[in-house]
Amino acid sequence: MKGRNIALMIYFSAFLIMAGGAKAQNGADLYNQYCAACHTIGSGDLIGPDLKGITGKRGQTWLISFIQSSETMIKDGNPEAVKVFEKYNKTPMPDQPLDNSEVEKVLDYISGQSSSDTGMETKGQTNKPGEKSTFNYTKADVQTGLALFKGTRQLENGGASCVSCHTIKHDAVIAGGSLARNLTDSYNNMGIPGIQAILVNPPFPEMSISYKNHPLTDKEVNALTAFLADSSKEAIYQIPRDNAKYFVITGIFLWMIFIGIIALIWVRRKRGSVNDAIYNRQIEIH
Ligand code: HEC
Ligand code: HEC
Repeated sequence: MKGRNIALMIYFSAFLIMAGGAKAQNGADLYNQYCAACHTIGSGDLIGPDLKGITGKRGQTWLISFIQSSETMIKDGNPEAVKVFEKYNKTPMPDQPLDNSEVEKVLDYISGQSSSDTGMETKGQTNKPGEKSTFNYTKADVQTGLALFKGTRQLENGGASCVSCHTIKHDAVIAGGSLARNLTDSYNNMGIPGIQAILVNPPFPEMSISYKNHPLTDKEVNALTAFLADSSKEAIYQIPRDNAKYFVITGIFLWMIFIGIIALIWVRRKRGSVNDAIYNRQIEIH
């Protein structure tokens, strides 16, 4: 009898948990989970465009297809989709795993938020990539970020080092991965909030798989953000500085070779007249 009660309890709890998990999510939840890392509604562009008023600007069918698979639309050459893609630094918006009714809920939410001037969670936040926020960092943070990026220092929770997929223009990063994009301009394109949103909750499938069970710590997120911000700003100095160094070294090297050749020619110069040489040879033969 007791066993049966326990079994019933387990069954009932399992039912409750499942029912809770399957609870239909509303538009706001879906939006926060799937879109908020890259978009705002009325607070400016983030990684993707500000979505305020988007439902008035584009047709419902277009929006549903775009949100489900913008890449397919871009590949098929949909002019609007291609235009948006090019405007936003060719950053791909990952395909969203939402069915039609879920996308519709998100769109309803966006449309509601667009018409109301109040109630925006991100209100007051300045997310515009153009505005460099007040994120402060030290040289030490940048160094830590570099080491984490390169993998010379392990990520605390064992995630893959960034260099296995990304590269960046930096003297100390010789060659990075080519699976994902070069991060040199990421800070200029998306600003501090954009980078942090990506690191805390990567919206790109390949990247989120790597960090889902190995999340970055807050300290790591800050150090990596500092490194990316610093590299963006320093990028213009990286290559010229290198070239100048190599230019001087190559110059000295070539000069030494030149002097060496001159010296050799000088040592083997003819010391007497040609007739003299012929005469001497004949004397030796006879
Ligand atoms: C990884 C970041 C990212 C995520 C997550 C993301 N987007 Fe985007 N989104 C972008 C980028 C970047 C663009 C710019 C165009 C492109 O990539 O093709 C964009 C473009 C759009 C556009 C087209 C805007 C226009 O002017 O036509 C819509 C609509 C949109 N996103 C809605 C959504 C919705 C809704 C979600 C959540 C279900 C979402 N996005 C999730 C990055 C993202
Ligand atoms: C398993 C591969 C992988 C790893 C590891 C990885 N990323 Fe990514 N990352 C991606 C992919 C894929 C994208 C999507 C954009 C693209 O296609 O390049 C991306 C995008 C980004 C972006 C947005 C770039 C932009 O300008 O649009 C940033 C920033 C970024 N990653 C930072 C990092 C950092 C920092 C690390 C290390 C903690 C890291 N990533 C590790 C695969 C990876």
